[in-house]
Amino acid sequence: MKYPYPKFIAHRGGGNAAPENTLAAFELGVEKGYTMFECDVKLSADETLFLLHDDTLDRTTSGQGSAKLDWQRLSQLDAGSWFSANFQGEPVARLDDIVHFVLKKGCFLNVEIKPNPGQDYKTGMACAKFLQQFEQEGKPSPFLLSSFSEEALQGAYDAHTATPRALLLDEWRDSAWETVSALECVGFVLNYQIASQELVAQCHMIDRFVMVYTANEPRDIKRLFNNGVDGVITDNMNFAQSYEGLMLQKSQIKIGL
Ligand code: G3P
Ligand code: MG
Repeated sequence: MKYPYPKFIAHRGGGNAAPENTLAAFELGVEKGYTMFECDVKLSADETLFLLHDDTLDRTTSGQGSAKLDWQRLSQLDAGSWFSANFQGEPVARLDDIVHFVLKKGCFLNVEIKPNPGQDYKTGMACAKFLQQFEQEGKPSPFLLSSFSEEALQGAYDAHTATPRALLLDEWRDSAWETVSALECVGFVLNYQIASQELVAQCHMIDRFVMVYTANEPRDIKRLFNNGVDGVITDNMNFAQSYEGLMLQKSQIKIGL
C-alpha cells in the first residue's frame, strides 16, 4: 500500500487559525510547517473553480444566499472579515491561485469536490481536468481529489486524468468497497471517529490508504496513528511542528494545547 502524502494535512488551508479556504489561510498553514492542505471546491455559475465550503455565502463571506453566482460577483466578496478584522478584505480564492501557491511552495493539495447542488458530475470533471494541466508525466501527483459525492468522483474518473481519487465517508457503508474499486480510488478519507484498527486494516488489505478528518486533539491523533491511519486532516495548526514530540510522548504541554 503506497501512501505518498504527508502525515498531517491542514484543513481548509489554515485550520482554525485563519478564515477557511482563503489564500491567507494557506499562507498561514505554510508558516506553521504544513506541507499538505485540504480545501473545498465549487464551480461558479460561469464555471470558474473557487473555494467555499457551504452551499450559501452567508457564514464565510460578506454575501448572502446561494453560491451559484458568476465569478465576477464572487470575486467582490470579503471572505475574511467574518473570521477577524485582521483578515478584512481577504477575497474568495480561485482554485487557480491556490494551486499556483501550493506548487510554488512544493506542497501537496487535497481538493475536496464540494459541488453546488445539482452540479456534482460537472464539478468533479472540471476539477480533474483543471488539475491535469499541472500533472507531470512520470512524477507523483501533488494532488488528491476527494468527495462525499460518488457522482462527483464519477465525473473526475470520466475525465481520465492522472490525479488520484479518494472516497470521503462520514459513516461507513459496505458498498464503499465496490465504489472504490469501480472508481479506482487510491484511498479513503474517513471521519476519524469510524477509523478503527480493524477497518483501517481492511482498507490496507485491499491496498487503499486511510486519511481521516478532522482530528484536533493530541490523544485522538495518537490513537489514530496507533490504529494505522496514514494521514490526519486537522484544524490544529500546531501538529506539523510538534509531531515528533507527540509521537515520542513528550510533555503534552508542548503539543499545542
Ligand atoms: O475533506 C475532509 C473534510 O473537509 C470533509 O468535511 O465538511 O469539513 O468539508 P468538511
Ligand atoms: Mg472539506
